[in-house]
Amino acid sequence: MNNHKTRTLGNRELTPETLMMGFGYDPTLSEGSIKAPIFQTSTFVFRCAEDGKRFFEVAYGLREREPEEALGLIYSRINNPNLEILEERLAVWDGADKALVFSSGMAAISTSVMALTRPGDTILYTAPAYGGTEYLFDRILPRMGIKTISVAPGAEDGSIAAAIRKEARVAASIGGRLAAVYVETPANPTNLLVDVAEAAEVIQSLNAAEPPVLLVDNTFLGPLWQQPLTLGADLTLYSLTKYVGGHSDLIAGACMGRADLMGRIGEMRTICGSMLDPNTAWLLMRSLETLHIRMERSQTNADTLADRLRNHPKVQTVLTAGGPERSAAQQAIAARQCKGRGSTFSVVLKGGETEAFRFLNSARLFKLAVSLGGTESLASHPSSTTHSDYTPQAKARCGIDDNLVRLSVGIENVEDLWADLEQALAAV
Ligand SMILES: Cc1ncc(COP(=O)(O)O)c(C=O)c1O
Repeated sequence: MNNHKTRTLGNRELTPETLMMGFGYDPTLSEGSIKAPIFQTSTFVFRCAEDGKRFFEVAYGLREREPEEALGLIYSRINNPNLEILEERLAVWDGADKALVFSSGMAAISTSVMALTRPGDTILYTAPAYGGTEYLFDRILPRMGIKTISVAPGAEDGSIAAAIRKEARVAASIGGRLAAVYVETPANPTNLLVDVAEAAEVIQSLNAAEPPVLLVDNTFLGPLWQQPLTLGADLTLYSLTKYVGGHSDLIAGACMGRADLMGRIGEMRTICGSMLDPNTAWLLMRSLETLHIRMERSQTNADTLADRLRNHPKVQTVLTAGGPERSAAQQAIAARQCKGRGSTFSVVLKGGETEAFRFLNSARLFKLAVSLGGTESLASHPSSTTHSDYTPQAKARCGIDDNLVRLSVGIENVEDLWADLEQALAAV
């Protein structure tokens, strides 16, 4: 019998790449269709009024779900088969109890943070982070009475232990709580790593009645090269727009992790209406089938290009996740927490903005666009685009300089890509 929720074959535990072909989808419910159809519908017909009542009781938490009771389909802001199948498949990669998908990475981040905090709370977050995330923490959450503290892991050591202890103490001394620790690792665009396991241990050692929730944005390396939940994080966040979508043709996000926290985030998603749409969920299911091949190939390409760029006379340095140019502490974190360096890294050119712009304007195969993780290679200038809302001081503190160019390496032929970089560098 073909059980679409089975994760083993005899004694063998099936790998995520195999499960991506059919896990969570029962063809007998859809005329035998090998692929899940797109359930392009706003609402679902109840078989009887009693069903409607039962489904809402569960959806609105009016009673506990029976052990074998599925949440009946109600309305696509609450649930939809495409979203549910996608969520089950995403949860497989990261070993999450539950995943939820959102209309963008920012929708996933903002909805999750709002679900976990209340006025008077403190959130500690790492810098640098994606510009939209920084904006949310620096400008929007404080308007809602949430205190946000940014920490730049000192001297490349990747540790935020002291900052967690300090902010927990300060929050408690004024009768509040450190509600969340938000980590982006590797950081966009410097690829600085933060030690997730250490942060999780420090949070545990606080022995707080309500310990801070540890959230990790895993967009750059996940789900193949880094799995924060296995390192002790409570929740993992994604811009699915990037590697998981992988073709630069959609916007989506996800949050996954501990069941109790995901319940609160699901409630907030239903009420804010920040869920994904069925059509995009279907595209993501298609993307998941080739995720490992795309991430493996683009990483191999990126490793080759980074090695060659390191020795180029017009390049000051490259910034990869835990690469040979990083401190011993960064390399040690990479060895413990990452299975690879991914395929997004930055090149620090000799010179300033003029040299960076000449390089960007000369590249042909590397398209001049923000975003990352697609099949095609992209190049961008964070200082004047994605991170332009940082103050000059914050840019300097985080190393987002005018001569820094971020590359997202795709799956093209690596020698073609190298030819493009060489000719663009020649124009600098
Ligand atoms: C690390 C990281 N997190 C979150 C986001 C936001 O994702 P989205 O653009 O899908 O809202 C981005 C976007 O670039 C990102 O790079």
